[in-house]
Amino acid sequence: MSAAATGEEKLFGQIVVKNRLATAEQVERVFQQMRDMERGGVSMVSLGEMFVMEGILTQKQVDAVEDLRRMLVRSRAAKEVGGYVLKRKIGEGGMGQVYEAYQPALDRKVAIKVLPRELVEDAAMVRRFEREAQAAASLNHENIIPVYAFGRMGDEYYLVMEYVDGQNLEEILEKKGRISERTALKIAGQIARALKYAHSRGLTHRDLKPNNVMITRDGRAKLADLGLAKRLDGAAGHITQTGVIVGTPAFMAPEQITNPKGVDLRTDIYGLGVTLYCMLTGLTPFETRTTMEVVHDLVAGKSPIPDKMDGLSPPLQAIIRRMTAPDPADRYPDSDSVLEAIQRLQGAPGKGAGTGAAGAGETPSGEARLLETGPLLRNLVGTAWQKRKGWVIAGTAGLLALIAVVVWLLAR
Ligand SMILES: Nc1ncnc2c1ncn2[C@@H]1O[C@H](COP(=O)(O)OP(=O)(O)OP(=O)(O)O)[C@@H](O)[C@H]1O
Ligand SMILES: [Mg+2]
Repeated sequence: MSAAATGEEKLFGQIVVKNRLATAEQVERVFQQMRDMERGGVSMVSLGEMFVMEGILTQKQVDAVEDLRRMLVRSRAAKEVGGYVLKRKIGEGGMGQVYEAYQPALDRKVAIKVLPRELVEDAAMVRRFEREAQAAASLNHENIIPVYAFGRMGDEYYLVMEYVDGQNLEEILEKKGRISERTALKIAGQIARALKYAHSRGLTHRDLKPNNVMITRDGRAKLADLGLAKRLDGAAGHITQTGVIVGTPAFMAPEQITNPKGVDLRTDIYGLGVTLYCMLTGLTPFETRTTMEVVHDLVAGKSPIPDKMDGLSPPLQAIIRRMTAPDPADRYPDSDSVLEAIQRLQGAPGKGAGTGAAGAGETPSGEARLLETGPLLRNLVGTAWQKRKGWVIAGTAGLLALIAVVVWLLAR
């Protein structure tokens, strides 16, 4: 392959050829064109874009090759840094890409989130991530995904967490539409307890929404991404310094736009309220609105929740409405009061959907009740497993392909 190509380009080209997406000659020609363009002073086009422009690869193929290239590079770095063995990419969100990995030293599966470069480009931001990761690592609650480590891997920063065998709530809701009141209250109660624990230790989440709630295969809710520093200054935010909103404003509390410095634990109560609404209705807030309309509505103090929530009892509607009040002063003042309200709806405290006795979350006996898996959740777990069977086949094929590429690269 062309001596003029950079290491990254070479690896990209090797994956393309090895996977028979193009011939070595085609790749060589693209490299040559890149060099010619650079000599002509045009270097705005990336290698992937060049392949698409030449009609050799589709954008989807470029993305897949790029994913594999990154994974290969990160695999080497992960091995060096902590002996982690990357297995597969699980997914990708606003704060980076998440991999399933194995840590042989402790014989455990872990999840590794690699943070986007632009988020850690200045030392102050890295220190902030580090501080937040340390705070998150000091938490120990059954409804919070534990953070094991934070550090540098090659020229990227990463976070190691417990691997959760399950699905996030957003995935579940996408499949099921909505879930029963009993299960929704059980999940909301568990997350309220997680918040109560985190808030009492001075930590707020600031990005609570269905995709940051994971449901384990045995039906337990676990809060993800707690303490993961959000974009921009000390407080909230999905708003960059240039005022561009990144992420989904539909899940943002109004103060995250209008008064980021004023974000506090009531922002999490809002997030939990919106999540509860999603679980019970299968809808997202501001369902039919465009991003600009949502921002406008939030700034104008409009509720994300419609006046009438079909099929929900008046007390349940009242709880959701109070949790999601546009003005934080109109919300429940703390997660304790949310928990009480949920328990009242569930019947006597400690019964039913498992928000448990005071301070639960650390009591195994209360936990046994909590984990009692309702028929719906069993059903969800079944669905997850059926899907996972598909993944196992696809994952095995993917892994074999990856091993083939790695072996081929090492043999060169
Ligand atoms: N500890 C974990 N164990 C297993 N899967 C995880 C873990 N953390 C995240 N995931 C999964 O990885 C995927 C990407 O997660 P990520 O947090 O990056 O994005 P997100 O939650 O979709 O969006 P956001 O950036 O808003 O949090 C999601 O499917 C999520 O459920
Ligand atoms: Mg997340």
